[in-house]
Amino acid sequence: MKDPQADVVAGKQLFVQKCGSCHTLARAGTKGTTGPNLDEAFQQPVKENFGETAIRGVILKQILFPNRLPNSDGIKMPAKLVSGQNAHDVAAYVASVTAKGGKDTGRLASAVKAAGAGTAVEKAGVLSIPADPGGQLAFAAAKATGTAGPVTIEMPNKSGTQHDIVIDGLGKGAVVANGTSSFKATLDTGKTYTYYCSVPGHRAAGMQGTLTVK
Ligand code: HEC
Repeated sequence: MKDPQADVVAGKQLFVQKCGSCHTLARAGTKGTTGPNLDEAFQQPVKENFGETAIRGVILKQILFPNRLPNSDGIKMPAKLVSGQNAHDVAAYVASVTAKGGKDTGRLASAVKAAGAGTAVEKAGVLSIPADPGGQLAFAAAKATGTAGPVTIEMPNKSGTQHDIVIDGLGKGAVVANGTSSFKATLDTGKTYTYYCSVPGHRAAGMQGTLTVK
């Protein structure tokens, strides 16, 4: 039985925004590695036909009262990242897709815009490459162009997930949430650089891009 009140489209959007930086869930396209993989966590109950309602109850309880010991890195899941109806929506979405394989379809398929489609262009000596504001482990632009010479590379991060921006051999900005990470560098003519986020797990999840210098 499904609760007719739950909005799984909103649930997916909230999951990506609030949970995906720590949890992998294939259908949601999230690749966080701080917390357990949420497809693996419910593989056994799904196989044993626990039922979506029961699994949803377990997830809702975890959202509201994580109250467990921190993991091996000393990280605890914060309680009530979403609450009220939002918590129900997230729990309903996760329960409906966990350990299921395949792809989201219909309105769910277009609920979250894939990050990284844009190209960031240097303007007046500043190259601004924002982090995905929706909390995905990605830059808003996976490609960037700059001109040879001095530049300030900045990463505005409007999400609550911590990120930085780094180019090996060139510079490293501070790790920030709801702020801007930046560094000054000098770009070489005709070179190609890789920018990435050095917060553990983020580059592996796809948070990187290519800067081409004209
Ligand atoms: C800061 C990282 C972080 C965020 C953000 C986060 N979690 Fe977690 N989560 C963890 C950690 C660490 C654990 C393992 C410890 C525990 O069970 O509390 C965990 C455990 C879980 C579990 C139990 C999995 C199992 O193996 O039984 C579920 C379900 C879960 N999280 C769902 C969520 C949902 C839904 C959200 C978003 C509302 C969320 N988490 C946000 C870190 C996070």
